[in-house]
Amino acid sequence: MSEFRLTQISDTHTSRRLTKLTDNFHRLSEYIDTSRPDLVINSGDITFDGLTSPGDFDFAKSLHDALPVACRYLPGNHDIGDNQTQIGPMPSQRVGEGDRQAFVSVFGDDRWRFEAAGWCFIGLNSVVMNSGLASEAEQFDWLARELAAASGKPTALFLHKPLYLNAPDDPELKATSIRYVPQPARRRLIELFRAADLRLVASGHVHQHRDFTFARVRHIWAPSAGFIISGARQELIGIKEVGLVEYRFRPDSFEVRHVKAPGQIAIDLDGLLKDQDVSARG
Ligand SMILES: [Fe+2]
Ligand SMILES: [Fe+2]
Repeated sequence: MSEFRLTQISDTHTSRRLTKLTDNFHRLSEYIDTSRPDLVINSGDITFDGLTSPGDFDFAKSLHDALPVACRYLPGNHDIGDNQTQIGPMPSQRVGEGDRQAFVSVFGDDRWRFEAAGWCFIGLNSVVMNSGLASEAEQFDWLARELAAASGKPTALFLHKPLYLNAPDDPELKATSIRYVPQPARRRLIELFRAADLRLVASGHVHQHRDFTFARVRHIWAPSAGFIISGARQELIGIKEVGLVEYRFRPDSFEVRHVKAPGQIAIDLDGLLKDQDVSARG
């Protein structure tokens, strides 16, 4: 295959009771039905709150199963709980092994590697980092082996949380686990990728589009497919919009398009909460 077309969707946050988010997912599905990429990756926060509404997992899976394209999945903090951190507040719902396993039983492996069009694609569970769970250490060991097997191919990394704001050594206060891969796991991750030809880091989580390059690695923040977060709740870093990201990989090059599916509506989280009388963590 000399070309590989991949669509990244993220932060779909679907739930049976949040019909506006389901509507946005359907608009996305219709667009994917016309664009027919080779693969769809959902980079996490697949469910609105799979932790407290386990039925959301099956509902979300049924929506993805209806897509005409194969899917791979990564967990987000709303699916299996959040990172622990050395600085900043502890998350109210820390990631746990039982929740991770529940995710895997519905969506498949929470980490994966495959190759296409001369590229190596790696998906990682970013919310397990700094957890101290056995699966965190296992993932790092697995990653070292998989990167060795990639033997220098151009590599694209997918994960829920962005690696960092602007640079690996952003000041610690900006580096809390709330928004980025927390230290010291981030340092270890970046060190492991020094042995690889990393070209792209694709993440979700922030519910904002962003596209920047640091040290020849391009960082793409996918927007949420479902909703935006108001200025009162979250600073503006990139662009607050809903949508998806399309990639076209060819040996030694790639192209990125930020797309909003026809009919996808930028629902504001505040309006969503008011409508539905549900509570959410940012
Ligand atoms: Fe999210
Ligand atoms: Fe998230």
